[in-house]
Amino acid sequence: HGTSTINAQGHLEIGGCDTVELKEQYGTPLYIVDEALVRQRSREYVEAFKASGLSFQVAYASKAFCTLAMCRLAEEEGLSLDVVSEGELHTALEAGFPVQRIHFHGNNKTPEEIQMAITAGIGCFVVDNFIEIHLLNAIAKDNGVKVNVLLRVTPGVEAHTHEYISTGQTDSKFGFDIGNGSAYEAVSLAASQSNLNLLGLHSHIGSQIFEVEGFQMAVERVAAFAVKVKQETDVTFQVVNLGGGFGIRYMDGDTPLKVSEYVKAITDAVKEHFAAAYTTLPEIWVEPGRSIVGDAGTTLYTVGTSKDIPGVRKYVAVDGGMTDNPRPALYESKYEATLANRANDSVEETVSIAGKCCESGDMLIWDVELPKVNTGDLLAVSCTGAYNYAMASNYNRIRRPAVVFVNEGQSDIVVRRESLNDIVANDLIPARIQKQPS
Ligand code: LLP
Repeated sequence: HGTSTINAQGHLEIGGCDTVELKEQYGTPLYIVDEALVRQRSREYVEAFKASGLSFQVAYASKAFCTLAMCRLAEEEGLSLDVVSEGELHTALEAGFPVQRIHFHGNNKTPEEIQMAITAGIGCFVVDNFIEIHLLNAIAKDNGVKVNVLLRVTPGVEAHTHEYISTGQTDSKFGFDIGNGSAYEAVSLAASQSNLNLLGLHSHIGSQIFEVEGFQMAVERVAAFAVKVKQETDVTFQVVNLGGGFGIRYMDGDTPLKVSEYVKAITDAVKEHFAAAYTTLPEIWVEPGRSIVGDAGTTLYTVGTSKDIPGVRKYVAVDGGMTDNPRPALYESKYEATLANRANDSVEETVSIAGKCCESGDMLIWDVELPKVNTGDLLAVSCTGAYNYAMASNYNRIRRPAVVFVNEGQSDIVVRRESLNDIVANDLIPARIQKQPS
């Protein structure tokens, strides 16, 4: 992946940094982010949209991996930002991210979050439901402002990696259904609110999608809806946001398309389906998360114990696990791994990589072929840039790992490793149980 190679010592090197040295300097588990690859992926989106000739915004879905440094990097690459909570918004604002390019998502934004975003001067809200239309309009009115909104609609397309399903009525907690008329009602309602500026529509059909058909069908349905709305109510949409979900290659067998192919399929579909009713085509926004950061991330672990059950399986335990990568336990996600300190050694055994949590389900990889693994070896699990640090927990009071950015031989900490003091930092002992043993 990216800028990773094997150096003369047989060590895995990422962004010009020797992983054995990274371990010595920062310890393990360690999240390593290949900065050049994040920039490359960002540029692939921007270039592909430029080639389409349409107006666009590429909003990085910060839920995939949100830190101050990542927000700065996204800004440098000319991306916009999708946030879904006060925490992500706060991170973006602290990073000095241009607030007009931040889009606020979520199916249950609190009044406090809405106020915070309005105070900051947020670029737009992606409105999810009827209660939010009223709430947002009321808060905007109190603040004496008019806020930009997109309405999240569910086009009745659901995509899961290899297949997409076209459903009549979508059973989803998100958005207004196009099929049952609620999207139509939402448009009329939003357009009539004094303090909302209805910019357009939003649709997100799933994540880790490998094919373009689902996106094309979503565009077709959103366009058909927009055309109907225009004919019947005169409301036109300036922006159509098609969400994220572009797949990446975790394993050899995975067959995602290139970023440029996803973008071309979407922009071509927009040109085809909006042309009849829209002389000026809407601006197209997308929200890639995984495909910006996923393959740029590697997690480095130190091997500790192992347990060989002859004829059954060999478990090799590392110093992290479901606390830094819950995806195998949650979704049965598959990952590849290599021995980072002996990257040239040939494969000798099939082992299963276990975490250190007190839970049988805490397995990172079942059956991976590796050279003979010994205590003290360094294991690198690839493609951990998205939804790993972002979904990390303190289960078993395990400290969250550090994150480093690597680039051209330089490494920089972007998130410090949690300390034992951090673990108890928010704990309090009520007075009535504070008695010390006498
Ligand atoms: N936009 C919206 C409205 C979304 O809900 C999501 C992801 C994205 C954009 C970004 O999707 P991406 O390009 O990253 O696929 N935790 C799960 C993934 C959940 C995705 C949720 N929404 C995982 O680890 O696979």
